[in-house]
Amino acid sequence: MGLFGKLFKKSENEVSAPKGFHSLVVSELKNVTNDSVYVAFEVPTDLKSAYSFTPGQYVNLSVEVDGKQERRSYSICSGPAENLAVAIKKVDNGKVSTWATSDLKVGDSVFISQPEGNFTWSKEKGFVVAFVAGSGITPVLSIAKHLEHEIGDLRLFYGNKSEDKTMFLSDLVQLKNTKTVFSFSELAKEGQLSGRLNKDKVSEIIKSDLNLLKADAYYLCGPEALIKDAKEVLELFGVAKNKIHYELFTTPVLMKSEETTVATAIFEGVSNVSVILDQERIELKIDPAKMNVLQSLNDEGYDPPYSCRGGVCCSCKAKVLEGKAMMKLNYSLTEEEVNAGYILTCQAYPASEKVVISYDA
Ligand code: FES
Repeated sequence: MGLFGKLFKKSENEVSAPKGFHSLVVSELKNVTNDSVYVAFEVPTDLKSAYSFTPGQYVNLSVEVDGKQERRSYSICSGPAENLAVAIKKVDNGKVSTWATSDLKVGDSVFISQPEGNFTWSKEKGFVVAFVAGSGITPVLSIAKHLEHEIGDLRLFYGNKSEDKTMFLSDLVQLKNTKTVFSFSELAKEGQLSGRLNKDKVSEIIKSDLNLLKADAYYLCGPEALIKDAKEVLELFGVAKNKIHYELFTTPVLMKSEETTVATAIFEGVSNVSVILDQERIELKIDPAKMNVLQSLNDEGYDPPYSCRGGVCCSCKAKVLEGKAMMKLNYSLTEEEVNAGYILTCQAYPASEKVVISYDA
C-alpha cells in the first residue's frame, strides 16, 4: 500500500487533510437568512491558483461532526474579486449544515477541496435564463456576479416561501446585469410572482416573454421537482438539451438517471481492476455483484476523491482507459464525458475481466 491517496491520522485528535483538500481559515461568517450562513475562506497566496474557479462550480467540505469525518458539497457563491465563499442552508437532520449554521466560527479551519463541477458558465454565454429555488441560488449568484463584469443579461426567476427566507435578496436587487423576478409561495407581493415555480408557472413565464427562448444557456438549480418541471417545459418549447444545465443538491427520486444501467448483469465473476491514483497503480479484484470501484478502494484503505456517493456531484470522476465499467446511476456527467470514457466511480462496476481506470486522466 503506497502513501498517496490514503486517509491517515497524525495523532489521536489530528486528522490529515483528505487528498485534494487544504485546510482554509474562515475569514467571514454572516447570516443570510435565519437558517442559512455565508462563509468566506482566506486562501493563502500559494494556493490562489488551486482555488481559482469557474462560476457555477462547487467545493467539498470535510469536517468532523460527532467524532466522524463528514463530506458535503457546497456551491461557490463568490464574484471574481471576492474571497472564496459558500452559503450553507440548514436542512432537517443535516449534520454538516447544522454544524455550519450553529457551531462554525471565524478563525476556524476547515478542510476544503479544490473547486469542481460541470454546472459552469463562461462569458460567451451572454444571455442567460435561470430558474432556481431556495439555496439553489448559490452557484447562480456567482454566475450573476461574474456577469456584472461582462456585457450580458441574466433573467433570473427565483422561488422561495417568503422574503425573509430568500437568500441574498438584497445582493440580487443591486445587480445591474441581472433582472430577478421573485416568486413567493407564502406571500403575495406586488410586482413579483406568487406560488411555486412549477410546470404551469414556468410555462406561463415563457409564454409571457418568448424572448426567453433566445437565451444562450439555461441554468436550473434547487429542489428536484423544480429542475424536472423547468427542464420539461424548456424542452417542450424546443430549447436544445445541450443549452440546459442543471445542478441537483440531493440524489433525485423523480428524475430518471441519464445513463441507468445494471452493470452486474453484464459481467459475472471477479474483475482485475487497475486504478491509477496520484500516479500510483493500485491493483484490485472486484466482484461487481458486491462492490463498486469507490467502495473497493475505500475498503483497501485508499481515499480517492468523492463527496455525495449518489451519482449527483462529480467529485469521484475517473476515466476508463482499458476494458469496461458500467454506471448504475449518473446525474452529473455529460453525454460527451460518458462517451469519452469518464465514469463516476461511486456508481461504476467493472464490466470486463480486466479494467484500467485513471483518476489522473
Ligand atoms: S461521489 Fe458524488 S457522484 Fe460519486
